[in-house]
Amino acid sequence: MNTERVSLGMPAAAPGAPGTVGGPADGAAPRPGAASRPGAPGSGLVDQFGRVATDMRLSLTDKCNLRCSYCMPAEGLAWLAKAKLLTAAEIVRLVGLGVDRLGVRELRLTGGEPLVRADLVEIIAALRRNHPSLPISLTTNGVGLAGKAQALADAGLSRLNVSMDTLHHDAFLQLTRRPFLDQVLAGIEAADAAGLRPIKVNAVLLRGVNEGHAAELLGWCLERGYELRFIEQMPLDADHGWTRDGMITAAEIRELLAASFELVPDPRARDGAPAERFEVRRHGSPTLLGTVGIIASVTEPFCADCRRTRITAEGKVMSCLFSRTEVDLLALLRAGSSPADDDAVAERWQDAMWAKPRAHGMGHPGLGDADFVQPDRSMSAIGG
Ligand code: 5AD
Ligand code: SF4
Repeated sequence: MNTERVSLGMPAAAPGAPGTVGGPADGAAPRPGAASRPGAPGSGLVDQFGRVATDMRLSLTDKCNLRCSYCMPAEGLAWLAKAKLLTAAEIVRLVGLGVDRLGVRELRLTGGEPLVRADLVEIIAALRRNHPSLPISLTTNGVGLAGKAQALADAGLSRLNVSMDTLHHDAFLQLTRRPFLDQVLAGIEAADAAGLRPIKVNAVLLRGVNEGHAAELLGWCLERGYELRFIEQMPLDADHGWTRDGMITAAEIRELLAASFELVPDPRARDGAPAERFEVRRHGSPTLLGTVGIIASVTEPFCADCRRTRITAEGKVMSCLFSRTEVDLLALLRAGSSPADDDAVAERWQDAMWAKPRAHGMGHPGLGDADFVQPDRSMSAIGG
């Protein structure tokens, strides 16, 4: 794994960034001893810029049954061997550490595609037994969801995010390289029927492929009470085909939607959420139809408010989606299971988060992309 450091070239006091610690990021900052860290030990997943990670994203597998062009190459990737993946027991232990000792307050299970993991339902049931009131959500591409939605709900899953970029079969095939749109639609319907609400739908727009479908997709979601969120395409594709000129920006997305809808910024506080929410109405009508979110990671980054900590399917902490350093927890987990070992795992997790970069280096005010280096991992291997 490449652990080369990337200079983000951030000024000592980037606009909007908390804290005043300057200097290089992504593991480069010296870490104070546990006793002199703010509030440590047991103070949670704090970083050197004062952010506190309470939102845990845990990838259950790097495997996927789609080949979205903004994520995977057509031929797929070399999947991790099963022995390298966190086991169900290790997942339960890590989430326990996160929630009981490190201040994690919500959990999102991701992939790859988490539904391809055979023990998914048991994992959710075990997590629910240990953490009766923890919000547990799942990000899925919806393939195979129709047959599993009720079991997921029964196991204690709180809600779902389904990725679906278009309602058109030809564009779906072009985007995902698989003809599974009907399965995804059936999956969303089954999740709704199983009460896994609110259902959020994630969509990425690609120029010349599905940007013309944005307003139609929004209308479809609003009619059904689903919350649509558009995600700006990020440079996380294994093919390294992303370009700034090619990507569709949040500003363009707002324009595309404005042809059909009136968007007004949602007065509710954003509260650390990555999506900027808008109330949606038809032009000239006072009736509120629902909301739409736009996640502008590239053109309007929200790193200063980030609350996420990510663990890959092989048990590595990634403090940021764009991090080029990873901290292995799996080796420690496998070394022992006494409470003293738990201390070591928690401490290493805290150390990894302490080194979280201030920002990802794309699109921050006053800075170009010159210092941005695309991570080696694609989205499927990090976990959305
Ligand atoms: N840019 C933006 N979003 C992406 N996703 C996958 N790859 C990218 C990318 N390069 C989305 C998926 C899913 C979510 C977890 O991340 O479509 O909805
Ligand atoms: Fe699979 Fe999600 Fe990547 Fe598409 S974006 S290939 S659904 S992991």
